[in-house]
Amino acid sequence: MGSRPPGLLFLTSLLHIWHCAGGQGSYTIDTVLLTIEPRNTVQSGTAVRLRCQVSVSHSNIPNLIHSFQLTRDDVPIYTKNATEDTVEYAINPARAADSGNYECRVSVKNKAKASNSQKLDVKGLQTPTLHLTTLTPYENEEFKATCSAPEEKGPLIFQFYLRFRTGSPKVIKQLSQGGNSSTATLRLSHIGNCILYCDYEIRLVSGNQKSNSSKEAELIVKALHITPVINILPSNNLSEGDIIEVVCRVVTPPSNTEVFLTKDKVILKQVRAAALSHKFTVREDDSGELVCKAEWGSVQKETSQRITVRSLFSKPQLTVEPTDVVEGDHFKLTCSVTIHDSNEIEKKTMQYSIFKDNTEVANTTTYFTVAQLSASGNYTCNATSHSLTRTIVKESQKYVVKVKVPVSEPVLSVVGGTLFLGKPFLLSCYSQRGTLPINYTLYQPRIPNDVKVVSKPGEKAIFNLTSITQISDIKNILCHATNSRLKPPMAGTGEQLLKWSNIIEPVSKPHLTTEPRMEDISEGYNMTLVCSVQSGSFPINFTWYSTRKGFLDYKISWKLKESHSISNVKGDHAGGYYCQCTNPANKTKRSAIIIIGVKMAGWKKGLIAVFCLLFLMAIVLFLFYKKRLPKLKTRRTGTLSVKAASTKVGRLSLIQAEVNEAANATPGMMGKSIWSEHVSGSESDDNCSTNTPEKREPQYSEVQLRQADPSRVPVKQGTDTVHGEVRNSQQGVQEVADAASVEYAELNHDTNHQSDPSDHGYHSDPSNHGYHIANDDQPNDNSVSINCADDRE
Ligand SMILES: *[C@@H]1O[C@H](CO)[C@@H](O)[C@H](O)[C@H]1NC(C)=O
Ligand SMILES: *[C@@H]1O[C@H](CO)[C@@H](O)[C@H](O)[C@H]1NC(C)=O
Ligand SMILES: *[C@@H]1O[C@H](CO)[C@@H](O)[C@H](O)[C@H]1NC(C)=O
Ligand SMILES: *[C@@H]1O[C@H](CO)[C@@H](O)[C@H](O)[C@H]1NC(C)=O
Ligand SMILES: *[C@@H]1O[C@H](CO)[C@@H](O)[C@H](O)[C@H]1NC(C)=O
Ligand SMILES: *[C@@H]1O[C@H](CO)[C@@H](O)[C@H](O)[C@H]1NC(C)=O
Ligand SMILES: *[C@@H]1O[C@H](CO)[C@@H](O)[C@H](O)[C@H]1NC(C)=O
Ligand SMILES: *[C@@H]1O[C@H](CO)[C@@H](O)[C@H](O)[C@H]1NC(C)=O
Ligand SMILES: *[C@@H]1O[C@H](CO)[C@@H](O)[C@H](O)[C@H]1NC(C)=O
Ligand SMILES: *[C@@H]1O[C@H](CO)[C@@H](O)[C@H](O)[C@H]1NC(C)=O
Ligand SMILES: *[C@@H]1O[C@H](CO)[C@@H](O)[C@H](O)[C@H]1NC(C)=O
Ligand SMILES: *[C@@H]1O[C@H](CO)[C@@H](O)[C@H](O)[C@H]1NC(C)=O
Repeated sequence: MGSRPPGLLFLTSLLHIWHCAGGQGSYTIDTVLLTIEPRNTVQSGTAVRLRCQVSVSHSNIPNLIHSFQLTRDDVPIYTKNATEDTVEYAINPARAADSGNYECRVSVKNKAKASNSQKLDVKGLQTPTLHLTTLTPYENEEFKATCSAPEEKGPLIFQFYLRFRTGSPKVIKQLSQGGNSSTATLRLSHIGNCILYCDYEIRLVSGNQKSNSSKEAELIVKALHITPVINILPSNNLSEGDIIEVVCRVVTPPSNTEVFLTKDKVILKQVRAAALSHKFTVREDDSGELVCKAEWGSVQKETSQRITVRSLFSKPQLTVEPTDVVEGDHFKLTCSVTIHDSNEIEKKTMQYSIFKDNTEVANTTTYFTVAQLSASGNYTCNATSHSLTRTIVKESQKYVVKVKVPVSEPVLSVVGGTLFLGKPFLLSCYSQRGTLPINYTLYQPRIPNDVKVVSKPGEKAIFNLTSITQISDIKNILCHATNSRLKPPMAGTGEQLLKWSNIIEPVSKPHLTTEPRMEDISEGYNMTLVCSVQSGSFPINFTWYSTRKGFLDYKISWKLKESHSISNVKGDHAGGYYCQCTNPANKTKRSAIIIIGVKMAGWKKGLIAVFCLLFLMAIVLFLFYKKRLPKLKTRRTGTLSVKAASTKVGRLSLIQAEVNEAANATPGMMGKSIWSEHVSGSESDDNCSTNTPEKREPQYSEVQLRQADPSRVPVKQGTDTVHGEVRNSQQGVQEVADAASVEYAELNHDTNHQSDPSDHGYHSDPSNHGYHIANDDQPNDNSVSINCADDRE
């Protein structure tokens, strides 16, 4: 474009002057014209010019600048700002890559106009040339091939073709390195002659164009004779300990050939020469493929041979006895082998070494030692066989000996420290010493054993005990700790819990008694309600209740027995009483209800006694009269004799007989006071009754029938008489003053009461124990006992 015609220059100069003279004003782009010279279709190599001419009408604007932009297929290729109305763009020489649709666009200030489109078509592609680094490569040898078309504008896509003398060509490489030449790395494996050539392609908007092919190059691919030969001496069939020699050889190799001997991907030897030789002693696990490999450049050849190695004796076996080594015990390590070929190996020539952590501890087949803790370690043994031809050393597997510390006696404790009998609790069992893991086994009454395995240091075995209800169960708890099957377990017993734990035992059912005895409670005196329990942990909260008045009192006590006193008992203290006990186990228990009657005051009794006495005397007098007046009546053979105590005015016998026959004695009736029967009875009147055979009054008596007591046989004197054992109450003088005595009679149930004829059938039938007639010690003495009960309202 540098060469502008002088005519055009003159014209633009004129335009310029015209612009300057015109000055500022309006303008319009009239036309933009693009022309291609010499033609639109040219041969490759022709010089082509593109001319763009603009025509602008304006009102005398000086130095009007035209911005030209030239595009090919809409891609800008050239821009220029000029005051001239024409620019030229030269393509010299034009190549196929310059083909396309050209357009020129002109902008003046803020107005633009595009030209018509002009198509340029450049015919013809340069024929490429092929250059090879060698024309006689070895098979699989790498060489380079360069294909170029230096006159063409890139990018070009090159293809390399291989063709044999017979057969069609094959693309062996296609590449585009961005310019007008490309170099390919080729490797040919077919030995013999072949032909290589190349061509290229150019991609245009109008379509792809392919070049003519390059000149053909004829190659000769040479064979590479580097396949090695392997030779194993003395043979492939070996015994361990044999020394073998392996030779790998390449016949007439090119220089720079490498030879390798490998086995299982391990290089045994490598040389940069035609041959190698490797000598070694085979071991039992050396059976397998030996591979010889030759390498020249990128070319490799290999050959292999299999060897089999026979084992003459086994690997030594290290055994430890016992398997569980406990501190202080003896243990024995034994190293032994099995001989497979007794011709080659003599058992007596075998030598053994036992190692602990790679230090020899014995050079015999066995090693005895006492298991100190320091005996723990990794043990191995070596067995060595020496013979004239070979020496074989074999190593055993590692045996890890861990000397166990024996477990110490386990300590039992209650988690949380407090045990409530009858409630579930957690028991921990723990041995201070002992190698882990330790197995703890819990034995407890009525429950299957429970096993816990502890493997963390300091961890305790925790058991959930749900069925311990009494102290004796705790004693029977047993915890066994063991860490070795060979040792007896160490045992801890529940006795420890009794010593070291806070055991809260619920209270047993309380028992309520009175002081004085219930039947002796009289008006004006003091009465004590004694509540007692058999067992229970302290403190015990004793609470007394009256059925009529409710809560009376409570006492917190560290004793199994507590009492509540009522002073100056009055008639309205009669009634039911019970007590209740509880302790930190929170299991409240209540006693049976006892019914207390309150006797009349002494003076009242005295008064009644006098009345009774008078009544009695009246009877006596009446009888006396009867005897003294025989005319009135004939003598009676049997009389009722009324026994009156000589010292006392009359003996009023109040009998409480207890029938101690389990079937008849309901618990509620046991020990129930006769007075209590009367509480619900009539109002406070003297209740005197004559206990005659005709009048059987069971209301006042509880008869206790007992089995024959051997100790009492002499008293019975072998006779079949009724034996009445009468115990006077201890009240003594006081009792006399009361004029009524309480007698406890025990009827000997087995005795035949009927056998004494003098009894006149007045005695009770043994089966009918609802009443009782008190007998004095004299068997013949028939007596009437009169119960004189003073009762309370
Ligand atoms: C031509 O001028 C325009 C502004 O008028 C500018 O943007 C552009 O770069 C110029 N081109 C050349 C080739 O100087
Ligand atoms: C290939 O060569 C022949 C002449 O040998 C020529 O006529 C033809 O145009 C060429 N083809 C191309 C694409 O250059
Ligand atoms: C061909 O490529 C070479 C190197 O890339 C370059 O120097 C040369 O100018 C190219 N030929 C043409 C005609 O573009
Ligand atoms: C290997 O040699 C042993 C004797 O050394 C022989 O008994 C055995 O048959 C041989 N095995 C082979 C595969 O040659
Ligand atoms: C091995 O045996 C030899 C005798 O054969 C003896 O002198 C040596 O002390 C032993 N070595 C050991 C570590 O027992
Ligand atoms: C024993 O072998 C074990 C691995 O099995 C290793 O961790 C330990 O360190 C060895 N002990 C000694 C004393 O070499
Ligand atoms: C035991 O034998 C093996 C070979 O099997 C050897 O490597 C090792 O060094 C030997 N151990 C000792 C302590 O000699
Ligand atoms: C112990 O066992 C009882 C009954 O199976 C259960 O109610 C209680 O939650 C258990 N205690 C613990 C701490 O697991
Ligand atoms: C401990 O208990 C586990 C599982 O019950 C058992 O396999 C193991 O043999 C026991 N160990 C001992 C020393 O009794
Ligand atoms: C004892 O029991 C009684 C009655 O249940 C109650 O009122 C009292 O608070 C208890 N005392 C204690 C210390 O628990
Ligand atoms: C009854 O108890 C009171 C105190 O409560 C006492 O002073 C009195 O002496 C007691 N009476 C008898 C007869 O024991
Ligand atoms: C018993 O009851 C008291 C008060 O109600 C409570 O503090 C205590 O924890 C209870 N004990 C048990 C074992 O339930």
